[in-house]
This record gives sequence, C-alpha cells and structure tokens, in this order.
Amino acid sequence: MKSRTGRQRRIVVMLSSLMICGALLAACQNGTEESQDPNGAGKTQQESDGTTVHFTEDKGTDGDNAGGDDTSSSGNSDEGTGSESDNGSAGEEQGSSDDGNGATAEDPLLEKRSISALQTTIDAQSVVTNAESMTVIVNKQRSLPEGYEPDDLVEPNVPFSFDEPHEKRHMRKEAAEALEKLFAGAKADGIELRAVSGYRSYQRQVSIYNNNVKTKGQEYTDRVSSVPGRSEHQTGLAIDVSSPSVGNVLEEVFGTSKEGQWLAEHAAEYGYVIRYLQGEEDTTGYVYEPWHIRYIGTDLALDVAKSGLTLEEYFDEANIKL
Ligand code: DAL
Ligand code: ZN
Repeated sequence: MKSRTGRQRRIVVMLSSLMICGALLAACQNGTEESQDPNGAGKTQQESDGTTVHFTEDKGTDGDNAGGDDTSSSGNSDEGTGSESDNGSAGEEQGSSDDGNGATAEDPLLEKRSISALQTTIDAQSVVTNAESMTVIVNKQRSLPEGYEPDDLVEPNVPFSFDEPHEKRHMRKEAAEALEKLFAGAKADGIELRAVSGYRSYQRQVSIYNNNVKTKGQEYTDRVSSVPGRSEHQTGLAIDVSSPSVGNVLEEVFGTSKEGQWLAEHAAEYGYVIRYLQGEEDTTGYVYEPWHIRYIGTDLALDVAKSGLTLEEYFDEANIKL
C-alpha cells in the first residue's frame, strides 16, 4: 500500500468532515418533523392563499377527508362517503352524490323526502326527532316529545265556525299564513269555508280522547281520535275545516259538498294535504276525514297530491325513489 502525501491526507480529512456535517444536518431535520407529528399521521399542505392546512387522520367518521380546514360541507361531497346521509345534509352538496335514499342535489323534492324519511326521524322510543319540522309525521306509531308545544303559534285571519277566543284558533305561523291564502283562494272561487279546530294541546287531547272513549267506546275512538301525544293537531300544522253549507260539521258529508271538493282539489296549491284519505285506514290508522288538512309546504304537498299516496307511504323509504 502506498503511503499518502500530506496534501492527500488533508483532502481526505476535509471530505470526511463534510460527510459528517451532512449526516448531522439530515438527522436534525428528521427530528423536527417528528416533533410536529409524533404519530406520523399528519400532513401539512400549503394552500394557494398562503395558509397552512394541517390534516390529521382518525377524526370523525370520514377519516379520508376530515381535517383542519373549515370546509367540512364540501369536504364530504366529492368523496361520496355519505357519512351525513342520515339527516340528508349530503343533499346540500354538489354533483350526483347519493344520500343513500336516492336523493340528489338536482332533485330538491327527493332531498326533502329523504330528510323526512320515516326511519330517520324517530328514536328508539318511537318519539319523533323532528317535531319542529314542517314535514314531521306523527301517527299511531310515532309520538311527539313529552310536553311538546310549538313556539310560534298565531291566530290566522280566517273566519271560524265560533266566535270566542280559544287555543284551537291557533296554528304555527307558516301554516297560518298558508291557511289565509287558502281561504282567500276559496273565496275568490265562490267557496265559503270555516276554520273549526286548529292547534290542540296535549292536555286538551287527553280530555277529548277520554271523552270519546266514554261516549263511543275504545274501539271506535281509536279509529277517529288520537292518543294524547300522537295527534297532528298538537303539532300546530293541522286544522279541521268545514263549511256553512253543511252546518260546519266535521263529518263525511263535507267531503261530498262543493266546498269539500274544492278543498280536496286545491289544498295542495297552498301547501296542505287531506291527511286521512278515503280507504286508507290501514296506512294512516284513521278513518276518512275530508275536513282534516295538514300543512307540509307547497312543493311537497303538490307532489303528494300528484302521487295519490298517504304521507306514511310518501315518506316511506321504500317509496322515496318513486
Ligand atoms: N282526528 C285525528 C285523528 C286526531 O285526533 O288527531
Ligand atoms: Zn283534525
């Protein structure tokens, strides 16, 4: 082996020092990254507006796109994870994302039907989770939360079948305004209607129901009267309507009167549906009530009327794509 000159030895020492410094520098940089993200799960990204976004995994249910930015709504849309499909919020997003019930953002009606789907708006105790919604469905299988009282009851400016002040003169504001338009529309067509009974508190339903049981018997009562907590009248979105031509009675004869027929034909234009249709006791739970109208909003009411379905059928998941 040849022995090195003094110059060669200096070059070897210099090169060795440079290599050691490089290795030390690399080690320092690794140490800094690890201290930002000890689990190694994080990623940072520089956005075009100069902000730094830090993404972490394992947050929420949609791990791929959950993160530190504040665009959570758009965050789900492209991925189509459907993690928010239960309340239909996916429908607010873009494109053809499917919320699991077939609703897409291009079809607001399907979106509303999905949001109100029967299975997604009830808890394990059969209490509805959307009591405040204009599309809440209460019936023999679905009750209102204990003590429920709407907080926006007003008195619609329409003729009633009685004069005295009473809670039954009230309805929720949106329904009351729609009722005023419905009565005005009827009048313009030469139809005289009378409002008979709107909002009904839980307590009043208790006395009505108990009185019916006493006078009509349990079996018949359950075909015509709701158990307290399960009456649509308690939502403030339903009202019984009749006409002077039949003495303002709430009986089937109203359905055959010209006023009753006008109501069946035009109620949907004002956001109302005839709730308990003829021959549908099996699905609604109640006998035909041509006088009982229920507000659900104009777009849905028109679609329900066109479908010929009961509300139970219309909001049944099995029918939602119809
Ligand atoms: N008559 C209807 C079913 C009610 O009692 O609410
Ligand atoms: Zn009624």
